[in-house]
Amino acid sequence: MQIRLTVNGEHKELQVEPNESLLRILRRHGYFGVKHGCETGDCGSCTILLDGRPVTSCTLRPADADGHALTTIEGIGTRSNLHPLQRAFVEAGAIQCGYCTPGMILSAKALLETNPAPTEKEVREALKGVLCRCTGYVKPVQAVLLAAARMRGEDPPLPTPCAETIPISPDRDIDLSSPQDEPLGEIPWNGGTGLAVQAPPRIRAAQPGSAPEHWRVVGRPEVKVDAIKLALGKPAFADDLELRGMLHAKILHSPVAHAKIKNIDVSKAQRLPGVRCVLTYRDLPRVVYSTAGQSDPIPGPLDTFSLDSKVRFVGDRVALVAADSVEIAESALRLIEVEYQPLPAVLDPRDSLKEDAPVLHDESEYVPFGQSDPLHNIAAAIRIDIGDVEAGFRHADFIFEDEYLVPKVQQASIEPHVAITWWDEDDRLVIRTSTQVPFHVRRILAPVLGLQDKQIRVIKPRIGGGFGGKQEVLIEDAAA
Ligand code: FES
Repeated sequence: MQIRLTVNGEHKELQVEPNESLLRILRRHGYFGVKHGCETGDCGSCTILLDGRPVTSCTLRPADADGHALTTIEGIGTRSNLHPLQRAFVEAGAIQCGYCTPGMILSAKALLETNPAPTEKEVREALKGVLCRCTGYVKPVQAVLLAAARMRGEDPPLPTPCAETIPISPDRDIDLSSPQDEPLGEIPWNGGTGLAVQAPPRIRAAQPGSAPEHWRVVGRPEVKVDAIKLALGKPAFADDLELRGMLHAKILHSPVAHAKIKNIDVSKAQRLPGVRCVLTYRDLPRVVYSTAGQSDPIPGPLDTFSLDSKVRFVGDRVALVAADSVEIAESALRLIEVEYQPLPAVLDPRDSLKEDAPVLHDESEYVPFGQSDPLHNIAAAIRIDIGDVEAGFRHADFIFEDEYLVPKVQQASIEPHVAITWWDEDDRLVIRTSTQVPFHVRRILAPVLGLQDKQIRVIKPRIGGGFGGKQEVLIEDAAA
């Protein structure tokens, strides 16, 4: 279908698919300041203004936008002429990873157009549709109030910078005057059976404002080096790039917890126009690896295959599809027929230790680490002692002993984990990924892909939050 839009004051006539999201349409046309987050309207990183009103573009279809005026972050300021909100976000230190920044600035812009003198509560209300996982909300709220005051013609002082206002606990801060005191403790592995960590050094407090007058940077708040580009919504993240002829990959996930793949038929998916490749375990060499992006030797077993004839959890990989568009790849997934031979599932960690428990990792390639015991479903056993534990117990007023269970957690960075790969002009595989561990990606994937380290170049652009979640090598092999 064809739609007519005004984007940032420019009239556009676009050919689109009726079921495409406005988010995808805008990014496809180069508006990378519209960030791709949850696709469900929850995170707000794809916020744009529709006739001046903030909306999540991932939940809008072309018909919703036809005939309307859209504003993206690209339309409100330039490097030499920042919008007051962009300037205030930069100056107030309201940007950390920057993935939420365009959505926050546009939401604030809509507020200030109808309410030039908002209260802090009203600013918080206006920003509540945009989630931030790094900076929090204090600094963005300060930035909006600062911009509002300037737009009213006032000349307010900058909010007191973070480094001088955060209360500093006396035994946690760094004494800038004696940096060589008390070196950091070593963290040696002791044969894989335990981790001995020396007591953390006690570092003394620097008093706020105690940096020598002639120091321009250390001990003083600084404008983040890439704050302006992030405030402008410039392409900075892994997915802010579209290569000519790029294919889109999707993964078929297991709906069952534990099963052998008895049969898998991909012929219908392969025949779907626009599908370029469908892979199952039969198509890939069987190379065992660990997804844990940690230093070699990885503190965990090698127990993963890019694709396997067995699935071990709901969501495990079954097949990979590459197609001309995301929509075609998704349709192809629905055409793959899989016959599972169910195996008893392991649903409780205590049950998994029993003698007769089903064994998840019975593959011969499994490489144990330390006290791994695959026959009893034990991936690793790690003991961590900090300082002299026995002395600590002797001097303790109380000793509490218990068993603690924690739920599985997800870091929930606003930017999804995303990877784009291609062969460069020197026949090297380039992996552009939102990873936190580019060198581990290269080392881990070289054997999986049958390449030497030097044949792989990993590019890690700015990432939209990671918090450890992007230290796993989760999707790069599939894209490669
Ligand atoms: Fe807000 Fe990272 S700065 S999500």
